Amino acid sequence: MLPQKSHLLIFTLVSAFCTALAETETCGQTDKPPSPTSECCGLDLADDHRKTSGDAAINQFPWLALIEANGRPTCTGVIISSRYVLTAAQCLYQSPTNVRLGEFNKTNSGPDCLMVGGKKICNGGAITIAIEATASHAHYNQDYHGHDIAILKLAKPVPYNEFIRPICLPTSDITVSPPENLRLINAGWGSKPSSDQEEDVVKHYVELPYVPLKRCKEIYKDISHRYSSTISEKHICAGGEKGLDSCRGDGGGPLMFEEGGRYSLAGIVSFGAVPCGRVGVPSVYTKVFYYLPWINNVTSTL
Ligand SMILES: *[C@@H]1O[C@H](CO)[C@@H](O)[C@H](O)[C@H]1NC(C)=O
Ligand SMILES: *[C@@H]1O[C@H](CO)[C@@H](O)[C@H](O)[C@H]1NC(C)=O
Repeated sequence: MLPQKSHLLIFTLVSAFCTALAETETCGQTDKPPSPTSECCGLDLADDHRKTSGDAAINQFPWLALIEANGRPTCTGVIISSRYVLTAAQCLYQSPTNVRLGEFNKTNSGPDCLMVGGKKICNGGAITIAIEATASHAHYNQDYHGHDIAILKLAKPVPYNEFIRPICLPTSDITVSPPENLRLINAGWGSKPSSDQEEDVVKHYVELPYVPLKRCKEIYKDISHRYSSTISEKHICAGGEKGLDSCRGDGGGPLMFEEGGRYSLAGIVSFGAVPCGRVGVPSVYTKVFYYLPWINNVTSTL
């Protein structure tokens, strides 16, 4: 009986593998953002999760999109489905023309390679896809950074692989009963607060403490009344630790919530105080959960 059992086991393994493959393939086909409870989003295969900030692993945060206007990086975005990239409305100001996906070293045009645990891992090089259409929130207010959210429709579907895949949209409002000592993650190629002028060349990330809305508003009252009155339940605040912050060039990028190795998009980088990374001063992100109906509408009609 034993051989039969092991045959059965092999068959089970093979069919599980095929199912996983088939799922990966169907995952690649959807224009609509995948269900956050499916295996089709938020999976990060990087094994380099020991640090809390610094250079990212080459295959980490594979949903990051580098937004370009006329060949120059201007903003960051996040892949939410094979056809749509979510970003900030302020990022449409420079009329973006294309996105770069699967990017690591943004100044290197070929494949990027990195030593990971003594092994050399390379990506296939970033791919560039033209932007076919854009939609920013109808009530976006440039002066107050209200409703700072936009969607880019890509001219062709994104080919998913280890370096390019979508993040999950959130299933709940993380600010309603946040876990104790909640920390969220921002990633991108923006400038590091320590070198305010120069944007980073390789993908990096920072872990940021969540800051409740009431405290965030109080902090901004001392900096700018205009921004303080802007901050509402449509925002989420995070940061305030020295040198750890989203910064110039990070606009439109993700504020991520990680749970059990799966990432969802809690916020979009909108605004913050200058200089970045000041002690006690968080940055402000558009709360994605609030805009789910809008996202749903745009990805059905754009
Ligand atoms: C990024 O790529 C450029 C161009 O190939 C190279 O000169 C530079 O050393 C790279 N930077 C890092 C940090 O890998
Ligand atoms: C959906 O989007 C369209 C086009 O932007 C807009 O005219 C319509 O009012 C939106 N509907 C809802 C329910 O938001």
